[in-house]
Amino acid sequence: MSGEILRAVDLRKTYLSRRAPPVEALAGVSLEVRQGERVALLGRNGAGKTTFLRIASTLLRPTSGTIQAFGVDVDRHPERVRPYIAVVPQEGKPFFHLTPREQISTYLRARGLSRETAHARTEAALEQMGLTDFANRLSITLSGGQRQRTMVATVMATEAPLLYLDEPTIGMDPFARRSVWESLRGLTRKGSTIVLTTHYLDEADALSQRLYIIDGGKVLVSGTAEDLKRSVGGTLKVFLPEGAAAIDRFRSFGTCVPDGAGLTVIVAPERLGELMGLAVSSNLTATVGPVTLEEAFLHVVGRSIHEDE
Ligand SMILES: Nc1ncnc2c1ncn2[C@@H]1O[C@H](COP(=O)(O)OP(=O)(O)OP(=O)(O)O)[C@@H](O)[C@H]1O
Ligand SMILES: [Mg+2]
Repeated sequence: MSGEILRAVDLRKTYLSRRAPPVEALAGVSLEVRQGERVALLGRNGAGKTTFLRIASTLLRPTSGTIQAFGVDVDRHPERVRPYIAVVPQEGKPFFHLTPREQISTYLRARGLSRETAHARTEAALEQMGLTDFANRLSITLSGGQRQRTMVATVMATEAPLLYLDEPTIGMDPFARRSVWESLRGLTRKGSTIVLTTHYLDEADALSQRLYIIDGGKVLVSGTAEDLKRSVGGTLKVFLPEGAAAIDRFRSFGTCVPDGAGLTVIVAPERLGELMGLAVSSNLTATVGPVTLEEAFLHVVGRSIHEDE
C-alpha cells in the first residue's frame, strides 16, 4: 500500500466573531489520505468541507487537533507544506487582467518552474481543458465555465504532489467536467494525491476512490461509493409510479421511499424476482435501475438529520 500523505486527527474549528455567536464548523474531523488517491469530501452546504480544505491548505488555523501533510505539521510549519500543495479555492476567479495563458504560466514561474517547463505545462493544460481558443483573451471576457476551467487548468499544471480542489467543476458543462475527471485521473496515475469536494454525486462516483461524508463538522460516513450504496440495503432500486398506496406490501423488501404517487424500493438483487412478481400481481408497473450515489447520500444524510431532530 502507498504511503500516507495527509492525516487529520480530531480537527476542530470554531469561528469567533464579535457580532455573532461562535460557529463550530469542524467538530472533530479525523481522516487519512494515501499517496495517489482521489478522495472526495461530500456534505450539505455548511457541513465544513471548505473549512477543512482551508486549514489543510494553510489558509486558516485550526482551533484544536492536528493535521499533517507529508508528515509535516501543517499548522506549525505551513511554509514547509506550501511548495507541495496547490489549491482551487471555492469560488476562486482568475486574474481578470491576465489571459488564461498568462495566468497559468505566471503562476508556474512563481512556483519556481523553469521557463521551458512552465511553457510546456501551460500549453498542455490549455489543451486539456479546452482553452486553446480563449487562451489569449483577458479572463474578464470569459464565460463563467471558461473562467472555472482556467482556475482548474492553473492548478493542474502545477502537477503538485497534493492537490486540493473545492468544487472544481462548478458551472462546467458535462464535456468540460469529463475533461477535468480525465486530467485528475492522469495526475494521480503520475503520483499526485487529490482531495476534492463536489455536490455532483455522479462526479464523486466517477472520480473518487474513497469518500468522506461530512455533516455538522463531523465525519458521518467514509468508504467507497460502492460501500455507501450497499449500506442503504441493496444495490438496485425499483420505481413503481403508482406504488405509494401499496407501500405496506413492499416494506419487507428494503428501504421504501414514497414520492407523490410513486414509490422507490431499494432492494438486494436476489429479491428482485420476488418483488417484480408482487408488482405484476398487484397490477403495478415497475422500472429497475442501479442505486445512485445521490440516492444513497440522501438516505444516509437524511437519516442523520432525522436522528438529530
Ligand atoms: N469566516 C467565517 N466566519 C463564521 N462562520 C463561518 C465562516 N466561514 C464559514 N463559516 C460557517 O462554518 C460552517 C462551515 O462552512 P464551510 O464553508 O466550511 O461549509 P461547506 O461544507 O464548504 O459548505 P458549501 O457546500 O456550502 O460550500 C458554516 O456554518 C458556515 O456558515
Ligand atoms: Mg464549501
